[in-house]
Amino acid sequence: MIKTGIVGAAGYTGGELIRLLVHHPQVSLEWIHSNSQQGKPVVAVHPDLIGDSELVFTNQIDTKGLDLVFLCLPHGEARPFLEQHPFGQETVVIDLSTDFRDESEGFVYGLPEVNASRIKQAKRIANPGCFATGIQLALAPAVKEGWCAGPLHVTGITGSTGAGKKLSPTTHFSERTQNVSVYKLFTHQHLKEINQTFGQLDSDFHGQVFFVPYRGNFARGIWVTAYFPYSGTEEAALEAYVHFYRQAAFTHVTQQDLDLKQVVNTNKCLVHLKKEAGQLVIYSAIDNLLKGASGQAVQNMNLAFGLDEKLGLQLKSVAF
Ligand SMILES: NC(=O)c1ccc[n+]([C@@H]2O[C@H](COP(=O)([O-])OP(=O)(O)OC[C@H]3O[C@@H](n4cnc5c(N)ncnc54)[C@H](OP(=O)(O)O)[C@@H]3O)[C@@H](O)[C@H]2O)c1
Repeated sequence: MIKTGIVGAAGYTGGELIRLLVHHPQVSLEWIHSNSQQGKPVVAVHPDLIGDSELVFTNQIDTKGLDLVFLCLPHGEARPFLEQHPFGQETVVIDLSTDFRDESEGFVYGLPEVNASRIKQAKRIANPGCFATGIQLALAPAVKEGWCAGPLHVTGITGSTGAGKKLSPTTHFSERTQNVSVYKLFTHQHLKEINQTFGQLDSDFHGQVFFVPYRGNFARGIWVTAYFPYSGTEEAALEAYVHFYRQAAFTHVTQQDLDLKQVVNTNKCLVHLKKEAGQLVIYSAIDNLLKGASGQAVQNMNLAFGLDEKLGLQLKSVAF
């Protein structure tokens, strides 16, 4: 059994990890950390876990004797946390924040569709961002083919859980419901990791990603639309995409009509493409808390520990 701890377990991604790991056949959850909830049973914070776990939150970090720790901390908090709590190389660290996605300090960028062989050897894994996952999986095959020399136009809409558990004016029900808004126009922090991967897939990649992020009025899920001028046929594009994802455990190319609920509550990314008006248009859909965060983190854990990539992740969609 993989002895595991979760830091930031009272938050959204931490809670989602608990939900996945209490039923994972190869994981023993040793502790769940929270400063604000220490001493409380897990169900005091995640009431849906009644009957599934008797764990109690602790504010103590035991850096010894663990095989794996997940860090579910806000951006900028993971690096100082690891400085204060140095885990030995025998402990695999999977960080869900942006802090190490530049692959500094020995971290490997944890996008399995691109880096599976490196993740399998890694002791430090930087889990991708949620928008970054949706956008990279929409465009990676096209970038690899060298089709993305010019500007890439991308929109993405996210559910409110993407902003974390802490209440803010833009996650407040009154302002979020029946509403849509744009934020961080062309400047979203995930562009850095997206460009890093695209440069890895095509060393000549100089295309610019113009990304318009939207806040959606739903709780879970990310929908991405990307397009660029494309002179080939739709069939050729489809063939390249299917080939690129031929070994992907969770990313599927589908020519069925796509909607968000097909992926909500699953670790899947569904990709749909079509050619219109000289443009290749690609849609991708993920659950921001699963393939966009905690599900992908468990997928990375499975790879790093030599397990079946799908273990503990064969989940049922909401569908309708
Ligand atoms: N939400 C998503 O869809 C999503 C997707 C991809 C990546 N991410 C990334 O995953 C990370 C966690 O996101 P989240 O949505 O789970 O956030 P969240 O709901 O706000 O939870 C973060 C948790 O971190 C703990 N925390 C904050 N500062 C801390 C510190 N200095 N030391 C120890 N614990 C601290 C807090 O717990 P206590 O106050 O109880 O200690 C809090 O519950 C972020 O970096 C986020 O960007 C999130």
